[in-house]
Amino acid sequence: MLCVNPRAIRGAYPDSLKQVMNIEAALQSRRWLAHWDQLCPQATPLWDLPRAAARLGVGSFCVKDESTRSPLGSFKALGAPIALIRLILRMMPQEAFEPEGLITGQYRQRLQDFTVISATDGNHGRALAAAAQSVGCRCVIVLHANVSLEREASIAEYGARVIRIKGNYDESVAHTAQLAEEHGWPVVSDTSYEGYETVPRDVMQGYGTLVAELIEQTAGTPPFTHVFLQGGVGGMAAGISSYLWEHYQAQRPVFVMVEPEQADCLYQSALQGRPAKATGSVDSVMAGLACGETSPLAWRFLAPCIDFFMTISDDAAVSAMCTLARGSTTDIPVLAGESGVAGLAALQQLANDANAAQQIGLGAHARVLIINTEGATAPTVYAELVGETAPSVLARQRDWLTQEVSREQ
Ligand SMILES: Cc1ncc(COP(=O)(O)O)c(C=O)c1O
Repeated sequence: MLCVNPRAIRGAYPDSLKQVMNIEAALQSRRWLAHWDQLCPQATPLWDLPRAAARLGVGSFCVKDESTRSPLGSFKALGAPIALIRLILRMMPQEAFEPEGLITGQYRQRLQDFTVISATDGNHGRALAAAAQSVGCRCVIVLHANVSLEREASIAEYGARVIRIKGNYDESVAHTAQLAEEHGWPVVSDTSYEGYETVPRDVMQGYGTLVAELIEQTAGTPPFTHVFLQGGVGGMAAGISSYLWEHYQAQRPVFVMVEPEQADCLYQSALQGRPAKATGSVDSVMAGLACGETSPLAWRFLAPCIDFFMTISDDAAVSAMCTLARGSTTDIPVLAGESGVAGLAALQQLANDANAAQQIGLGAHARVLIINTEGATAPTVYAELVGETAPSVLARQRDWLTQEVSREQ
């Protein structure tokens, strides 16, 4: 499904939005993150895949590959630590903590009785647990029934206390709010709700590091014409599109939002013109995108800048995972998890629908970017869906890079 957003504007980045999220704060977050040992020190790769571009009928096709961002496996490692640092700085101004000292655990003794809590469908909770472990505070993570045991174990590994509830993601958010109230634990959530916007704003702002790198990596080349962004509650898309909009102003790229058809809360928001709920079961193989309710704060950024909203099937996501894993002589094999491939899945769908592709403005002149937001964050699921293990794909990736070096010599 595809819908045009009649509210999208093509003008300067509005001041009202800049007061909430801006490049300056994103760059400050980036400087702090540079001190965290859970992030790889170098920029994540930007792969150019010419064979895929030819098959998709576009001029170029690039993948910003967040699978290598961190041992945590996803771009979410950029959001939670920033929100946690900023929360502690706000709550304890008298302590005069240094942000770099917080993330390197210098104040762990003073923070050992401080507890934060969040609901998650996996990646945010894992990143928060790891950030809390580095800072030296406690962390409680609430999981809904559909989060796999594998994902639960990967969160517990970072010392968080995990609480499992029977309902879905949105019920886990409500349960978290209740526990937070009972125990006086601050919530570090990646989604906003009425009266709760500062922390999710900080999470979204943290994602700006990815865009700062992208702009450096593409300096001197023509900018992307189209950026495909996958959506859960919309936070990632808001963090990334706002930065690109502020940077390119009226020349910003066309933004296309992609969601699972069962978890179409952003698509429904576009139809209704306000933050809305999903119409489907919300359960999807794209676990990170299986969210039933739009983040109202994210929506303030998405409503004026996402040009098109699309939904995709789980089968399309699996097919895109296989495409990226396979690679070719010209295209490096890429380890891309279920939620990471949504942009490619949408493009593969558009390659079979000439009218829709034309409506979005795809074609030989289009320079398209997707963001592979995760690697094999659930390795067993990945191996089952792709028919190959993550280490095997990575071994082929290393071989491909070695062969490229010899091709160049
Ligand atoms: C791998 C991955 N990609 C994309 C998203 C979507 O982010 P958001 O919920 O902020 O829209 C998530 C959310 O958990 C995720 O885990």
